[in-house]
Amino acid sequence: MSTEPRPPDAAPIVRRGIAAIRAAKGTAPIVCLTAYSAPMARAFDPHVDLLLVGDSLGMVLYGLPSTLGVTMEMMLAHAAAVVRGSQRATVIVDMPFGSYQESPAQAFRNAARLLAETGAQGVKLEGGQAMAETIRFLTDRGVPVMGHVGLMPQSVNASGFRATGRTPAEAKRVREDAKAVEQAGAFALVIEGTVEPIARDLTATLSIPTIGIGASAACDGQVLVADDMLGLFDAFTPKFVRRYADLQKRASAAVAAYAEDVRARRFPGPEHCFGVRAKPDDASKTPHPIPA
Ligand code: KIV
Repeated sequence: MSTEPRPPDAAPIVRRGIAAIRAAKGTAPIVCLTAYSAPMARAFDPHVDLLLVGDSLGMVLYGLPSTLGVTMEMMLAHAAAVVRGSQRATVIVDMPFGSYQESPAQAFRNAARLLAETGAQGVKLEGGQAMAETIRFLTDRGVPVMGHVGLMPQSVNASGFRATGRTPAEAKRVREDAKAVEQAGAFALVIEGTVEPIARDLTATLSIPTIGIGASAACDGQVLVADDMLGLFDAFTPKFVRRYADLQKRASAAVAAYAEDVRARRFPGPEHCFGVRAKPDDASKTPHPIPA
């Protein structure tokens, strides 16, 4: 996002809506990335179609062992920050574990909070056939839903964290899950950790866009966890991640340089210090007057 002031006669910036994401199927690949804060959103917004406030934040920001400990309060705070930091991208927020599985009514109550209190345009939830009734309940009541099938991190205790679709039984399940999510009215579908032929086939047969993560380039779009591709999260890197930067290492080097400067009294320098006023009534001449 540019920090230049916009000319007063510039056309208003219009946020890309759910319909635009849906309509992008079969045109250009849909670019999606997770974001969890306003500065991240500002940096990513000019380049992506969709910002996902993923519950992966539990692991990459909070150091939790899985996404299961993520709460509604975390998702509300981070999603609101991402909406404030972005102007163009569609913002979708993950429903955390335990906020939607109990009943369609529970899911609606929490989805409504996520949309109303953050300004995000839709929610994402994990699950196929088991969640179809809930997805239908939400979409019938004005909540745009992005589905998530294949490897489902919130089911780590039941199915582990491993790629799926390799055996005929798994392949059948992923296909049926994807079909159920589409028929329930979802506007798009994340396919995670799934073998290429299934992702390719689903992309060809579903009417909604497929967004792959570890599901091959055959999908209509791609998503990655930003901290993985930026090298900010190094506890482990899934096979399907390409690292575009090593910000953890760069941050560590920057902090080491700062620590050395402080210890050697090289920081702060004169340019970082406030001067004494020449005259007591000269306050209006300082560039950033400090309130008395
Ligand atoms: O939580 C998340 O970041 C996600 C993506 C990996 C799709 O669900």
